[in-house]
Amino acid sequence: MSVDFVKVAEIKDIQPSNMLAVDLEGERVCIANVEGNYYAIGNICTHLGGPLNEGTLEGFDVECPWHGSKFDVRTGEPTRPPARQAVPAYEVKVEGNNILIRKHQ
Ligand code: FES
Repeated sequence: MSVDFVKVAEIKDIQPSNMLAVDLEGERVCIANVEGNYYAIGNICTHLGGPLNEGTLEGFDVECPWHGSKFDVRTGEPTRPPARQAVPAYEVKVEGNNILIRKHQ
């Protein structure tokens, strides 16, 4: 696992209140834009693997499109069942027009 930040998207790719799924070294990651701030968590729901980027973003919570679990995009922690395990959380850095992420150490 690299410790360096990796560019995964550009600012124009993710409008406010939207999400985008990207790959980081083989892991699917969901980038969320909450009022101009970017957050990144694992894209695969820990319940049965639903794609979080296809769900809905409300405040800091993303709702899985399959059975309604919610995760906090700031921490990856579940905020509503049926999911009980957190998804990974990533650090996000914006440099110019670029969005870079790395996994929390
Ligand atoms: S797969 Fe996400 S809530 Fe079931």
